[in-house]
Amino acid sequence: MLKYTSENITDVVIDQMATTTDPRVREVMAALVRHLHDFAREVNLTPAEWIQGIEFLTKVGHKCTPLRQEFILLSDTLGLSALVNLLHDKTAIEEATQTSLLGPFFRENVPMMPPGAQITKQPQGDQIVMFGHVSDKQGKPLAGAKVSVWQTSEDGRYDVEFGEAIDMRGVFETDAKGNYLLKTTKPLGYYIPLDGPVGDMIRAQQRHGMRPAHIHFLISAPGYRELVTALYLKGDQHLEDDVVFGAAGDLVAEIKDADPNNPLPGHKSIQFD
Ligand code: BEZ
Ligand code: FE
Repeated sequence: MLKYTSENITDVVIDQMATTTDPRVREVMAALVRHLHDFAREVNLTPAEWIQGIEFLTKVGHKCTPLRQEFILLSDTLGLSALVNLLHDKTAIEEATQTSLLGPFFRENVPMMPPGAQITKQPQGDQIVMFGHVSDKQGKPLAGAKVSVWQTSEDGRYDVEFGEAIDMRGVFETDAKGNYLLKTTKPLGYYIPLDGPVGDMIRAQQRHGMRPAHIHFLISAPGYRELVTALYLKGDQHLEDDVVFGAAGDLVAEIKDADPNNPLPGHKSIQFD
């Protein structure tokens, strides 16, 4: 009869799962068990701590609704989402703009807007022109690419926090030279949703829970992989300690007062290619 020990239990479990037919599932599950067991051994996990962990994950599950994905928020705040994105970028299928988090505030069915349209229904502060080009990795301009953008208001809230109406978001198409052009307002950084178990974790860790000001982009064109990215505003105080680890140096852009490249002079502008 086999005698289980705190050391041999890992191999015993992996052996029993070795009949998994899908090789990738077999590989992923074996690695998961190995790391999970190593983790328990490393911290000498007690039964009380184990049940506390189970209760925490149960609360995370209970907080999920069709409109709220607390598990993704947990993954984001543990840096796992950022790591998966970084691994994906490293495959170098496309040496393109770095990816960044999609986040929970993306919405489907956002209307197409004509070039130069303002995405904020009632701009309070300065209107900002946003422009740039979409190209493939050889630098060839992509005409007819869809550029979907979404961001917060000037006081750091997404439209869904005000109600159903679509605001501060739009979908634009690049012109024959691959250029897009729109107007927006300056977004503000914000707290991620902290009213669930992930918020409890963030407070227990004495983290601030904020994201730096950013504008999300989802860019697509027939025959190309979709790019989910964002630009982050230069000068924001949380560029270095984004609670979800999405802000990256390559994605920082500046609002310029008078850029000679701005297609709509007289406004401040941001260029993001
Ligand atoms: C966002 O940028 O919209 C976001 C990303 C991850 C977690 C929460 C919000
Ligand atoms: Fe966001």
